[in-house]
Amino acid sequence: MTTVLLTGGAGFIGSHTCLVLLEAGHRVVVIDDFSNGSPEALRRVSELARLGSWRQLAPEQWAAGEGQPARLTLLKGDVRSPQDLDRAFEDGGGGDSGIDAVLHFAGLKAVGESMGQPLRYWDVNVVGAVRLLEAMGRHGCQTLVFSSSATLYGITDRVPIPETAPLQPINPYGYTKAAVERMLADVAASTPGWRIALLRYFNPVGAHPSGRIGEDPNGRPNNLFPFLCQVAAGRRQQLEVFGGDWPTPDGTGVRDYLHVMDLAEGHGRALEVLQAEPPQLLTLNLGSGCGHSVLDLVRSFEATNGLTLPYAVVDRRPGDSAISVADHREAERRMGWRTKRSLADICRDGWAWQSANPEGYRGSDRQPGRSLIQAQPVS
Ligand code: UD1
Repeated sequence: MTTVLLTGGAGFIGSHTCLVLLEAGHRVVVIDDFSNGSPEALRRVSELARLGSWRQLAPEQWAAGEGQPARLTLLKGDVRSPQDLDRAFEDGGGGDSGIDAVLHFAGLKAVGESMGQPLRYWDVNVVGAVRLLEAMGRHGCQTLVFSSSATLYGITDRVPIPETAPLQPINPYGYTKAAVERMLADVAASTPGWRIALLRYFNPVGAHPSGRIGEDPNGRPNNLFPFLCQVAAGRRQQLEVFGGDWPTPDGTGVRDYLHVMDLAEGHGRALEVLQAEPPQLLTLNLGSGCGHSVLDLVRSFEATNGLTLPYAVVDRRPGDSAISVADHREAERRMGWRTKRSLADICRDGWAWQSANPEGYRGSDRQPGRSLIQAQPVS
């Protein structure tokens, strides 16, 4: 059994990956500041993973699992805080076994916001990564999976985009991802023994098929899929399609949408490969290799779920590109991973989540541990 630390593990991708890791038999420690994630997500992950008993550690801290040490521990903390990180490495793992690997999801990801608040992005995304690397050094952990992004490729006409394409981010969010990738390459080159995977996500969407966990953005969603789900749920009046005059088959932007469960499983595979192979720095695109337009997604969502989605075509969004599709062959070659779920699966599962949780996790019991203690106390 491996003990894995997930920074930002209460967020969208982190919570789905947490479930995959628990189901694979690993122990998981999550550190999250809940700025864009919810303890309720992890309570539900514990239920889905059928962790039998529960134990509360402290008001902002809980653990769930069968016996001791807990299979899943949640700590409220900030990745920029060496103290919080030390606690995660020392206490979070249950005391007797350390952290074997880190999956670093914690970070800010809104492009528009990053242009207005660049220092905040450099602080959380880059300083946070520096602090994490220092903590890994202090605790002798050298295995890391980093959440990178296809945003690094900037605006390019190249289809599909291989990992070797030039990195040309066009906004502070993208620069911070590029900076952390560079830093990790420097660290790997400076000290033997590092096992690092840089996973460049294309467009992760959808939800766990149970409809119990999914994407729960703060405020108005910036991204297409959560926005479209909120239109379907009646929370938004209509979808604005950003541009109908792109050089694509139907004039709307084309992206590589991948189901979040495929992405979560990709993290599980990356961890297995890093642990099985000699130290290395692995850089992989995670995408389906298929492009779908905005209108493809709208039509698939309507057909799959028997709904009609009102939309209007408006001006292009600044900073968008016509098309972005992964060359996904390297991920298949290096770790035998490829996406298994279709666009219809994405639409069905995303709607299962949104329709069962129209307000996301809001309205659920957000107090970590409280309902768990009532349900099944463990002394
Ligand atoms: C965006 C970010 C990218 C980030 C990714 C995270 C921008 C410019 N890019 O990618 O850096 O890594 O999210 O998932 O913000 N669309 C609409 N109406 C909407 C929203 C989007 O038509 O209300 C269109 C867009 O023009 C695009 C497609 O839908 O063609 C997908 O957009 P989005 O979900 O925001 O993802 P990206 O722009 O690919």
